[in-house]
Amino acid sequence: MSGQEVIISNNLAEDIASAISRQSHDRLFVLTDTTTLRLCWPLVSGLPCLGSAQMITIGDTDDNKTLQSLSHVWEELQQGGATRHSLLVNLGGGMVTDLGGFAASTFKRGISFINIPTTLLSQVDASVGGKTGINFGGLKNEIGVFNNAASVIISSDFLRSLDQKNLFSGYAEMLKHGLISDEESLDELLHFDLNIVDYDRLNSLVAKSVSIKERIVEEDPTEKGLRKALNLGHTAGHALESLAIEQKRTVLHGYAVAWGLICELYLSVVKCNFPKDKLRQTVQFIREHYGDFPMDCKQYERLYEFMRHDKKNEGDSINFTLLGSIGDIRINQKATKEEIFEMLDFLSFKL
Ligand code: GLY
Repeated sequence: MSGQEVIISNNLAEDIASAISRQSHDRLFVLTDTTTLRLCWPLVSGLPCLGSAQMITIGDTDDNKTLQSLSHVWEELQQGGATRHSLLVNLGGGMVTDLGGFAASTFKRGISFINIPTTLLSQVDASVGGKTGINFGGLKNEIGVFNNAASVIISSDFLRSLDQKNLFSGYAEMLKHGLISDEESLDELLHFDLNIVDYDRLNSLVAKSVSIKERIVEEDPTEKGLRKALNLGHTAGHALESLAIEQKRTVLHGYAVAWGLICELYLSVVKCNFPKDKLRQTVQFIREHYGDFPMDCKQYERLYEFMRHDKKNEGDSINFTLLGSIGDIRINQKATKEEIFEMLDFLSFKL
């Protein structure tokens, strides 16, 4: 996989123009979704470097991350005369950067693409690290390839139109990056005021967060080992997200991850001696900002089943990434059913 340039931008016009000019291309395409077209495209649509771009638009929610939308993008590229030397700019959240990255990686065996993530979740996670793909057969990110964007351009200008829930959702992945990195980074995150946002300061926290992810992905681009650190909070989190979807409740990914962090930090205390004061501090921040995941113990079996079918497992056992302390990553940790139920008790205040 070729390297990826991540630009934390203070000047979108300049940074987009120079990223585009570094990729020699014949035709230029911009992929976006209906909401991003309305809220974020106006911030860049007047740039001369995008003047010749042909627009491709898809629906704006994760249920559009489908083969049908992918096929629509391929068709638009084909009808727009795209060649192997064309360039695709993905402007949007994780759905657009994942699907667009996959469309570009497969069209004529691969054309170059640039990611301009416009949500906090996509800035700190989805757009960086080369995971591309679509949902398929009822499963998230079932089909895809690892392939880096030529450049990822990150700017807090886009975040000003983001609602608070989506801001909090992305912030959960930043908390995860702090936890797997170092005490100072975590401390900074736990003391940032998420209710009155200082966007310049947020941009520098995002820069730090992205550099933590980049460091890990560089060492293990295809998730054979260390990259599993990025799964902290996600085994429990994905199960909670799946339960919510089954119950037709709306739960944003980052909220499920935040509650998953409560679960898996508790498991870290039990199994890896993670310090209890750090658990308390982090749990307090999460409960204050994300509230609680309402459930009762009748749902534990179902959650356990979701965890058993998590695609991160190998064989029959459920795989967790846990911590011995902040930054002390323990991948491939197994837990018994009793331990998992106890962890769910902790999440739902029964301990
Ligand atoms: N979202 C976790 C990863 O990129 O590996």
